[in-house]
Amino acid sequence: MTKYTTVENARVGILMGSASDWPVMKRASEMLESFNVLHECNALSAHRNAELLREYIAGAEKRGIELFICAAGGAAHLAGVVAAHTEKPVLGCPMQAWSLDGLDSLLSTVQMPKGIPVATFAIGGAGATNAALFAVQMLGMSDPDLLERFTEYRNTQSDSTTLLE
Ligand code: RP5
Repeated sequence: MTKYTTVENARVGILMGSASDWPVMKRASEMLESFNVLHECNALSAHRNAELLREYIAGAEKRGIELFICAAGGAAHLAGVVAAHTEKPVLGCPMQAWSLDGLDSLLSTVQMPKGIPVATFAIGGAGATNAALFAVQMLGMSDPDLLERFTEYRNTQSDSTTLLE
């Protein structure tokens, strides 16, 4: 039985608390893809797959994953749990789950007690996209080609504001 998917030479691990988070988190995956950043995507719950998650994180670090993007909804503890098991940066994406419009997920993710940080992004799709862009910025600090592609992307963002049809 396949427990989780690994990608050779992946630099980023995207984790979700449930496959139901994928319609939103695929935006992060697509953004990384557009920058040719190798990554792997898995649904592993902090409470439903606790041991498997721990095993995955340990293996991912050994394989060279440089940072994790973690998405969860409700009592969204996945990012915090991952951060507890790794010294790699953890970027948290609060999902709009079944209640409170995702405010529950946002507060659960952002309110990490001091000492174990989770960088938290906006609720939903914007946060998923921005987490991927932030990952690109971080990886770009030691990867000039990637940084150049990021600069090109930022230029298109500027143009999208000022160009009228
Ligand atoms: C969280 O609960 C997941 O991250 C998801 O956002 C939410 C609902 O999960 P499912 O009930 O759809 O599996 O753990």
